[in-house]
Amino acid sequence: MKRILSPSLLLVLLALACTKTPSPQEQLTANDAEINDIIAQMTLEEKVEMLHSKTNMSSAGVERLGIADIHYADGPFGIREEGQPNGFMSAGWTLDSATYFPTGSALAATWSEELAYKYGTGMGKEARLRGKDVILGPAVNIQRLPVGGRTYEYLSEDPILSAALALAYTEGVQDQGTAVCIKHFAVNNQETNRGSVDVKIDERTLREIYLKPFERAIVEGGAMSVMPAYNKVNGDYCSENEHLLNEILRGEWGFKGMTVSDWGGTHSTMGAMLHGLNVQMTGSTYLGQPVIDSIATGALTEDLVDEKVRQILRVRYAIDPVPDDEANIVMTSQPESQKIALEVAEKSIVLLKNEDILPIKPNVKRIAVIGQNAKLKTQSGGMGAGVKALYEITPLQGIIERAPIGVQVTYAPGYKNFPGRRWGPAPAKKDPLEATAIDEPADPKLLADALKLAEKADLVIFFAGTNKNIETEGSDRKDIKLPCGQETLVEALYDANPNVVTVLISGGPTDLQVLEPNSPAIIQGWWNGTEGGTALAEVLFGDIAPSGKLPFTFPMKLEDSPAYAMGNFPDPNGAGGDLFTLMFRPDVLAMSPAERQAFIESLPKPVSEYTERFYVGYRWFDTKEVKPMYAFGHGLSYVTFAYKNIKASVSGKKVKVTFDLVNEGDMDADEVVQLYVHRVNSSVEWPAKELKAFQRVSLEAGECEQVTLTIPFDDLRYWNEQTGSWDLERGKLQLLLGSASDDIRLTAEVNI
Ligand code: BGC
Repeated sequence: MKRILSPSLLLVLLALACTKTPSPQEQLTANDAEINDIIAQMTLEEKVEMLHSKTNMSSAGVERLGIADIHYADGPFGIREEGQPNGFMSAGWTLDSATYFPTGSALAATWSEELAYKYGTGMGKEARLRGKDVILGPAVNIQRLPVGGRTYEYLSEDPILSAALALAYTEGVQDQGTAVCIKHFAVNNQETNRGSVDVKIDERTLREIYLKPFERAIVEGGAMSVMPAYNKVNGDYCSENEHLLNEILRGEWGFKGMTVSDWGGTHSTMGAMLHGLNVQMTGSTYLGQPVIDSIATGALTEDLVDEKVRQILRVRYAIDPVPDDEANIVMTSQPESQKIALEVAEKSIVLLKNEDILPIKPNVKRIAVIGQNAKLKTQSGGMGAGVKALYEITPLQGIIERAPIGVQVTYAPGYKNFPGRRWGPAPAKKDPLEATAIDEPADPKLLADALKLAEKADLVIFFAGTNKNIETEGSDRKDIKLPCGQETLVEALYDANPNVVTVLISGGPTDLQVLEPNSPAIIQGWWNGTEGGTALAEVLFGDIAPSGKLPFTFPMKLEDSPAYAMGNFPDPNGAGGDLFTLMFRPDVLAMSPAERQAFIESLPKPVSEYTERFYVGYRWFDTKEVKPMYAFGHGLSYVTFAYKNIKASVSGKKVKVTFDLVNEGDMDADEVVQLYVHRVNSSVEWPAKELKAFQRVSLEAGECEQVTLTIPFDDLRYWNEQTGSWDLERGKLQLLLGSASDDIRLTAEVNI
């Protein structure tokens, strides 16, 4: 019998078919009716309490109405140890040891959205165990300067790679019922004067490079909160920047959640209230009593306060508070997360150079491990983002545990590590605002001891690089030279024994001009989390093939990089200083709050010009034909991969590229395939090429796989400054497919 649908059922079905799934941001408004009812029951004082910190890491709810406080935790690469309610000093807990995940640039070196998602799940789960609602991360600013103090926290110099990973990380965290607070919005690319610098940037560069990672995580990933940065952008502090917060974030991207100022980064009541800030962290100087007073005088309306509270409550409603008796009852670090940390570390290690010395050969019976960085724990330091890890396998420990029976491992420190200046009172003579330049010579005794071991060994593994006193929040490096006499040491080591493998332990790039000729193999080993030493040993001994790729360019020398070449950094007039560093200067400490504020305001106003525009990282090196030491996307394997049979087409609003990838080696290995676009006969200005798609592919020994990469037209658009909108330039595209930005294997062309 034929079934006939009733007209009313038909109508229901039609309505269902026409209902658009709400966007991730729209989903945040699901509880607005209930939220409005609650707001109607709140006093003005209760509402204003929600607009500023309650403790150093929380903001208030309304107990009377059953609204829990919001608990925050740093991020971005592990849940930070519990601090005192009024500051960052340790609370002395015992169950708050968390998993130390590889830091940002290491995660980015995996080029894996799948791993970034898993990483996010690990962070999100551990946050819940600690009773936290919001993670202060991911940190997704573009790595503009090789010297940048927070390069290690950030992901990449490329917006497409950063955006893909920022999105996956965000989804991973939020799928666990924890909110992200993506930071630092926006253009916080230097630590020098970060609390006062005014970034002068054109709209196209802002949109195409610096905002991209935020845009994807917010629009597609539904990031629930956003941390405005310390700096100014085009004249206004980020925490009161109408263009960034109201026009772009809320207006264009449809953001429905809350903004939380960086700690100490709120600057005024009217600015913050009118131009997009929800929560002042920390203190209540601006978004406490002054808000109530401003309403009394009519300068602000209570409707505006309601709007801000609604945005905060959307996050509170979306995230279930963890009941007190369910939080902190087990150790924060969980085996599941430790496994994720290991997997990320394994896939992040970048083999920069290998003259057939790795993996370590069976005839190597005596290994001399040289360098303090082999033993140094990297979980904490660098100011805000440290982790109290449950455990951390150092590189030396990893090597000793993995070395086959009969292989002797010896160790010598080789150099003194730079003790640096920690966040705290300034050393007597040194200007605390000075960037960190390390020109300490090699220590003759340590050098001699190291040489003795090297002479007797079959293989020297030299651990070079920086540490978290050198690369740190709050200051930038003065240069990217290898510190502590490491250059002298590697020359001497190579003379004593030419079988040198160097492992660079750092978060950002270093100058390798002296090291490179003295080291037949070089690895970028990162600050690689709780299992970093295990992963490194697996790569060194050939249990797995290295598969990380550089997420940023290693310049030959610092002066080659765009902001330096253009004379934009360092800013010759850039006095002032980092907010925190300044606050700890003895004379500033002695001031009253009002005097301190007046002092800060009286400092010269530093400016950072971004006249290199969108020529950031490899976009600059390629276009200007400046040869880097190691290019963006570079990373070798123990096998070779063949790229064959490229086919490119346009279907719908996408460019599609298929090709065959063959693992020609005798071990399983991953390759990260990269697709760049070059514009042919364009009338718009473009860099020589730009990354537009990538994929990590795992292949067994000898396996061949057909791989498909797609580029949505949206990712090919440029920001048209004349019309103030995104435009697609039609015409011919050259598609460059390869293993690195300087290792293009196949090309094809399409017309769009
Ligand atoms: C950093 C933020 C961090 C905050 C709280 C600030 O100094 O810039 O990234 O989340 O402190 O620790």
